[in-house]
Amino acid sequence: MRLLCLTAPLLLLAPAVWAQNLADGKDVYGPCAACHGANGEGGKGGEYPRIAGQPASFIIESLKGFQTRSRYNLPMIPYTEPRELSERDMKDVAAWVESIQLPSRMPVLPESATALERLLAAERVLVVPRVAGDVDKGKARYLEECADCHGKDGRGRASRDAPMLVGQYPDYLLRQVDEFKKGKRGAAEGHPMNGVLAELTSKDISDVLAFLTSIQDQDPPPSASTAAPDAGVPATASEPARKR
Ligand code: HEC
Ligand code: HEC
Repeated sequence: MRLLCLTAPLLLLAPAVWAQNLADGKDVYGPCAACHGANGEGGKGGEYPRIAGQPASFIIESLKGFQTRSRYNLPMIPYTEPRELSERDMKDVAAWVESIQLPSRMPVLPESATALERLLAAERVLVVPRVAGDVDKGKARYLEECADCHGKDGRGRASRDAPMLVGQYPDYLLRQVDEFKKGKRGAAEGHPMNGVLAELTSKDISDVLAFLTSIQDQDPPPSASTAAPDAGVPATASEPARKR
């Protein structure tokens, strides 16, 4: 039965269209795995961001941004050329990547689970490094200034195209903060992040990251799931993408 049995309820609840998106999206994801990892877990301590579990709307917006160069990033450009990645592919790959859940703790597996199943489950566990800082101050700041878009639990809000910040590598987030501050990203008028970080000192940022990295091992409340409803089973995705 492998791990698929855990995701069966998820697929049953999903509309058929979505299941099709997932199957196609998994194929489209093939070349992405070289940098973002087989399970979208990212790599090299955040040189390649984790993308698993991000809201599909954010993934699509990001891909379009790379394609049109409104978000400039050299490594991503060739993979988003329209001839490589159609609109349809973008939607499909976003659905697949969103559906991959990476728990921060080893899920409880049935006793009958094989060594391979345990190994595969362990490979999905992602814990990012904690950041030192004042967690309480960071929490207060986060809830006041960021939660509206990124969610109270930091797991992103699809309706705002806002990414999850919890479970993302702090080094990656710091790099992005720097890009926003320098206006390399999010500088367009009306961009939701425009000016949002302007007043934050590096100490404030560390405090916010200290808070965000302190809550990564709390299970997401069911309502927080922007992806597939998880029917009370430990968060896990279906098989890892095999192509590399
Ligand atoms: C050659 C390496 C490479 C490949 C292949 C690649 N990416 Fe990326 N991707 C990156 C890097 C590096 C970044 C970080 C960009 C930055 O620092 O702004 C990134 C960023 C992203 C982001 C934004 C994440 C965030 O939180 O800001 C998304 C979404 C994404 N990639 C999706 C994909 C998809 C889907 C594919 C396959 C179609 C893909 N990538 C292929 C290197 C790669
Ligand atoms: C008005 C809505 C809004 C608010 C408020 C907001 N954000 Fe964002 N944030 C976004 C959106 C939308 C994106 C994605 C933008 C993009 O990709 O161009 C984003 C992206 C980010 C990213 C990049 C993450 C990634 O994976 O690429 C970081 C870091 C971030 N926000 C931090 C913060 C912090 C810290 C605060 C509070 C001080 C905050 N944001 C407040 C909407 C918001």
